[in-house]
Amino acid sequence: MEQRQFGAAGPEVSVIGQGTWNLESGDRARAVAALRKGLDLGMTHIDTAEYYGAAENVVGEAIAGRRREVFLVSKVMPSNASRRGTIEACEKTLAKVNSDYLDCYLLHWRGRYPLEETFSAFEQLQQAGKIRSWGVSNFDVPDLEDAVKAGGAAMACNQVLYHLQERAIEHAVLPWCEQHGVAVVAYSPFGSGNFPGIRVSGRKVLDEIAEARGLTARQVALAFLVRREPVLTIPKASSPEHAAENAAAGKLRLSDAEIERLDQAFPRGPKPRSLPMI
Ligand SMILES: NC(=O)c1ccc[n+]([C@@H]2O[C@H](COP(=O)([O-])OP(=O)(O)OC[C@H]3O[C@@H](n4cnc5c(N)ncnc54)[C@H](OP(=O)(O)O)[C@@H]3O)[C@@H](O)[C@H]2O)c1
Repeated sequence: MEQRQFGAAGPEVSVIGQGTWNLESGDRARAVAALRKGLDLGMTHIDTAEYYGAAENVVGEAIAGRRREVFLVSKVMPSNASRRGTIEACEKTLAKVNSDYLDCYLLHWRGRYPLEETFSAFEQLQQAGKIRSWGVSNFDVPDLEDAVKAGGAAMACNQVLYHLQERAIEHAVLPWCEQHGVAVVAYSPFGSGNFPGIRVSGRKVLDEIAEARGLTARQVALAFLVRREPVLTIPKASSPEHAAENAAAGKLRLSDAEIERLDQAFPRGPKPRSLPMI
């Protein structure tokens, strides 16, 4: 599994990690087994959130006895992101994931509380040893600029929507993060259940590259998303089989010719007015 530095001052983290949104909705034992299989295969970056409810408990069960292996990320809901609310939300998350610290804590998306308030809570949590780093999610460039002005120069990452059919971040968010040493964590890398099907014109190219290398289309897609240095990704899998397939993409490097073909098959499109939100 390839490792990449998490932001300017962070540790090395697995380039392919594991998402947990809706992970609690199916067979719990299978979900726990999926996360553990992922850990066995090096997908040690686990992403969860206050918003994901009982998924945080599933994470707690999966990482029991293995906390030191994991780079654990959670997120505070914007509606709780006041100074006091952020600290309380973090305490609740720590209890659910059964850990005394998070490796990174994110503001899930920008809400009504001033960024200064949330960031000062993050700093307080960091000083208390409850989080090791902090960052943001769903921030477009004007939000990132505001974050820096609000004392966010130390933010470790920006977690954003990025998949083959949604490449908007490549216009400005990705270059900004590259320049500022902020890790880009690509969420919904398979389009959140809308992976390009046979009717999508680019799928043929995806399949041709996969077949030529003895891989799957999803493995090729993950490798395409992490082709640039600051990007890591967090596919969600509810079965050990899916987790194993995703983990195998963590050592895959596409050639320039393959990247060029995928770039044409799934064009990044015009610059959007603003970043899509969940
Ligand atoms: N910051 C944010 O606002 C935000 C928003 C959305 C998501 N996220 C994070 O990003 C993570 C990933 O995004 P996502 O959950 O939206 O969707 P995703 O990872 O793009 O796609 C998940 C879907 O792909 C399927 N899948 C996974 N591996 C597969 C494989 N090898 N073969 C076939 N199917 C496979 C899953 O099925 P099974 O479940 O059956 O395996 C599930 O239906 C989330 O879980 C969450 O942690 C963050």
